[in-house]
Amino acid sequence: MNKFIKLAIILLLMHGSCTKMGTSTQTQNYDAVYLNPDADIEERVEDLLSRMSLKEKIGQMTQVDRGFIQQHSDITTFCIGSVLSGGGSGPPENRAISWADMVDDFQQRALMTRLKIPLIYGIDAVHGHNNVYGAVIFPHNIGMGCTRNPDLVRQAARVTAEEVAGTGINWTFGPCIAVVRDERWGRTYEGFGETPELTEKMAAAAVEGFQGSDLKDPVSILACAKHFLGDGGTTGGHDQGNTELSEAELRAIHLPGYISAINAGVGSIMASYSSWNGEKIHGNHYLLTNVLKQELGFEGFVVSDWGAINQLSADYEVCVEKAINAGIDMVMVPDDYKRFINVLDTLVTRGRVPINRINDAVKRILRIKFRLGLFESPFTNRSYTMQIGSSEHRAVARECVRQSLVLLKNNGKVLPLSGSESRIHVSGRNADDLGSQCGGWTISWQGSRGSHTIGTTILQAIKQRAPASTKITYSADGSNASGSDIGIVVIGESPYAEGKGDSNDLSIEEQDVDTVKRIKSTGIPLVVILISGRPMILDSILDECDALIAAWLPGTEGQGVADVLFGDFPPTGRLSHSWPRSMNQIPINLEDIPYDPLFPYGFGLTY
Ligand code: GLC
Repeated sequence: MNKFIKLAIILLLMHGSCTKMGTSTQTQNYDAVYLNPDADIEERVEDLLSRMSLKEKIGQMTQVDRGFIQQHSDITTFCIGSVLSGGGSGPPENRAISWADMVDDFQQRALMTRLKIPLIYGIDAVHGHNNVYGAVIFPHNIGMGCTRNPDLVRQAARVTAEEVAGTGINWTFGPCIAVVRDERWGRTYEGFGETPELTEKMAAAAVEGFQGSDLKDPVSILACAKHFLGDGGTTGGHDQGNTELSEAELRAIHLPGYISAINAGVGSIMASYSSWNGEKIHGNHYLLTNVLKQELGFEGFVVSDWGAINQLSADYEVCVEKAINAGIDMVMVPDDYKRFINVLDTLVTRGRVPINRINDAVKRILRIKFRLGLFESPFTNRSYTMQIGSSEHRAVARECVRQSLVLLKNNGKVLPLSGSESRIHVSGRNADDLGSQCGGWTISWQGSRGSHTIGTTILQAIKQRAPASTKITYSADGSNASGSDIGIVVIGESPYAEGKGDSNDLSIEEQDVDTVKRIKSTGIPLVVILISGRPMILDSILDECDALIAAWLPGTEGQGVADVLFGDFPPTGRLSHSWPRSMNQIPINLEDIPYDPLFPYGFGLTY
């Protein structure tokens, strides 16, 4: 037989074996129901659960940060169900392709387990895919709340989902739907605002944007409403503090966002570090199980926060027992996964954690993995990788910036700029600092000043937009402004995240006041742009400026600020928080009696 005929026969035989492997168009005879993509999801869940050992079940409930994985083979050995990248935790080379390679490698390891259950990989993509260099950074939620535009929130979430999917990641720990009642909290900017009405509207929009109409869509990623329940209501705004409210008040203020997110189909919810009337949420069976899962019918899974279960007791066994029995389904360990796995195995074996609680948790996790289509498409769809940071995506973020700006003052209608200025002097330490305009949760956990990713600062945007006939000069401290037609000073906060941003003093920093006064002393008209994660106390500068814009944390697309300054688009933003006159007024919220803010909730001028 000649060699070509022999080769043809081999190829036919190989094709036959591939067919058996399920690549043909004929109907498949899958060995197991759970592997059949056409089978009912609940049947797939039950079938897979019935095949799992206790070890495999506990592995699915275990989430590990990539930086703590001692050897990648542990993913296979311990049947780990989820990996995360905490703030700033990424591959050595922070490039989209490196992220995709890293995530796909972890996925390979998971698919080498006996039952080949794919990983779900989580990350805080809370204002764009903010860990990844070159990704578009959107305004933080406090600014998105000021847009009052749920369609735009949905669009921003969709773009974020595309960029996240481009790195192979299939789960964001967002939206944060904290109803923020006290601006001393370092996470004020992560919530949409101070009212349940605004929050419930934006929560649904964000979930729909991230998850799309079908979780199986290659661009869709799992959303995670957080942090359940009452994270934004702690006394004094203390991060991870104590929310002291009656159940009626807790439900009225903090629950509507979750009802809205659940109705929008959110597939995961993260528990809050905080406490309710002295009891840690992570150990609160009434809220996590009776209210969230039974009363509200949430059928996704509850994930703990970073190491949060460790706060439940001095005894780690008690921590695990309380958290799992309360209704935590997946534990963001995130470090000593071997200890967690061994302890939970012991607790089940000794009957301190019932097997039906384990089965419920694992079913919830598997249900979401099936809905995401992870069993059929576990790896990065590289066609989205190239979309990260695209001009189309940046255009969406620029629109978000425009609509998030709130014009608080405009005496003498100094804004919009006429375009016939011969010289504009720009000043302030946040004018040419991409890191400050992005804020926390950007490239690193805390964020940082400086140029750490791709974007346009406000100064660069003004230079790009100004007519050629207009000279743009700059000084960080306000010097050399004399003779200009107008001064624009960009001041405010430096980046921070979580508890590191807790503060009892929200007044404008002295060096910013000096900059404002230095420009004011020249007698030219003065526009102040405030870059901050929350309202600040303005008494030191309010009378000094002719116009004032709250720009929040606008992200990488600084052009959106120039668009409004030059009048290409009018300011339309409306405050998502009541603006306090002084620290003594905080907390101050819409329904307070008396209610006497500097600027009321919903305030915003236009041209
Ligand atoms: C953090 C935050 C939470 C975040 C998680 C993972 O501590 O509380 O919002 O999703 O850890 O980074």
